[in-house]
Amino acid sequence: MTSSFVKYQQPSELTPAIIACVEAWDYWPLKEFKDALATGNYTLFARICDGVCSGVLLVVNLGDAADVVYIYTEPRFRRQGLALQLLRECERTGKSDGLVQKLFLEVRPDNGGAQKLYESFQMQLIGTRKNYYKDGSDALVYRKVLQRS
Ligand SMILES: CC(C)(COP(=O)(O)OP(=O)(O)OC[C@H]1O[C@@H](n2cnc3c(N)ncnc32)[C@H](O)[C@@H]1OP(=O)(O)O)[C@@H](O)C(=O)NCCC(=O)NCCS
Repeated sequence: MTSSFVKYQQPSELTPAIIACVEAWDYWPLKEFKDALATGNYTLFARICDGVCSGVLLVVNLGDAADVVYIYTEPRFRRQGLALQLLRECERTGKSDGLVQKLFLEVRPDNGGAQKLYESFQMQLIGTRKNYYKDGSDALVYRKVLQRS
């Protein structure tokens, strides 16, 4: 079995396996996902195992900070540490770029599983963002200050 993390910065780089994974969650239409990547400010991390994409993470670069706007793992790969690995890969890349000092994340107050994930990644709940989601719901905001080694 071959397994790897890959990093994409252009919509033209998306493979059918990654598109299938993005389309499996109806949070963002594929077009919005591609439009975001086309701005050049976003990076997509994906885990590929034997040609199958088991999870993706999309992060936007905000200068000295980055915001994880999308994290999804395929149901059959859940609770195996995959989302945590995607977050760590994103953190490692941010540190190695040398600019990113803080990582932010927003999550729905009723998404307890995701909140547990962010806490196990040592993120801290720092506040609420009003009317963050398209349906008008508020978001909880998590932050991690990246420590330089
Ligand atoms: C949230 C999500 C990304 C977690 O992915 P995952 O690959 O299962 O997460 P991991 O296996 O890396 O979880 C690591 C730890 O986070 C916590 N955690 C993750 N999902 C959890 C859940 N549903 N309930 C409780 N704790 C959870 C646990 O502490 C877990 O460690 P453990 O399995 O040893 O107890 C996945 O459930 C998902 O894609 N959900 C739908 C999309 C979504 O809600 N995205 C987040 C939007 S902000």
